[in-house]
Amino acid sequence: MATSEVAGVRIARIAPADLGAYKALRDEALRLHPDAFDSDIESEQARPPESFIGRLGLGEPLGGSFLLGAWVDRQMVGMIGLERQSMQKLRHSAELNSMMVRPAFTGHGVGRLLMEACIAEARKAIGLEQIILRVSTSSSSAIRLYENAGFKSCGVIPHALRLVDGPGQIRYFDKMTMVLML
Ligand SMILES: CC(C)(COP(=O)(O)OP(=O)(O)OC[C@H]1O[C@@H](n2cnc3c(N)ncnc32)[C@H](O)[C@@H]1OP(=O)(O)O)[C@@H](O)C(=O)NCCC(=O)NCCS
Repeated sequence: MATSEVAGVRIARIAPADLGAYKALRDEALRLHPDAFDSDIESEQARPPESFIGRLGLGEPLGGSFLLGAWVDRQMVGMIGLERQSMQKLRHSAELNSMMVRPAFTGHGVGRLLMEACIAEARKAIGLEQIILRVSTSSSSAIRLYENAGFKSCGVIPHALRLVDGPGQIRYFDKMTMVLML
C-alpha cells in the first residue's frame, strides 16, 4: 500500500458535480506541460466541463472507465483516468490518461497513490486484462512512476508530438508506449 507525505490526501472517483474542478486542473496541466499531453490548451479551454461526462464511465457496466481525483481538504490536487476500449476485439484493454499532480503537491507520493488506486479499480473491471499508456520520453518522473507500478516499455514513436512555439520554433517529442498486464 503506497503512502503519501501529503497529510489527509483522499482518492475518490470524480463525479458529475466535480467536473468543474476536473476541467480547471486539466487546463492547468495542458498549460504547464504541453509536452506531456496530446491535447492543446488553445483548442480545449473553451470546452464546457459537462463535455467530459463520458469519461466518468457511468455507462460502462463492466467497469474499466473512470476518472479518479486526489483531494486535500476540498481542493483537487491530482487526477488519473482510465478509458476502456469500446470495440469488441479491444475490450480487454484500457488506456490510461489524464495523469497529473498540481506542482505544489508533486514529489510526495500523490501520483503513486493515484496509480495504485487506478490499478485496484481496473482489477475490479470484468474482463479487463491490460492497461496501455503513451508517455513523452521527456516526462522522466512519470516514466519512473509507471515503471515502479509495473508498466513495461513496448517501444518509442519518434517525433510523436510536434509543438509550435512561434514562427520557425518547433519542438518534437518522442512517445513511449507502455503496458501493464493486470
Ligand atoms: C508525473 C506526476 C503525475 C507524478 O506525480 P507525483 O505526485 O510527483 O508522483 P510521486 O510523488 O508519487 O512520485 C514522484 C517522485 O516522488 C517520490 N516519492 C514518492 N512518494 C514519496 C514520499 N512518500 N515521500 C517522498 N518522495 C516520494 C518518488 O520516488 C518519485 O521520485 P522520482 O521521480 O525521483 O522517482 C507529476 O510529476 C506530474 O503531474 N507531471 C506533469 C504531467 C505529466 O507528465 N503527466 C504524465 C502524462 S503521461
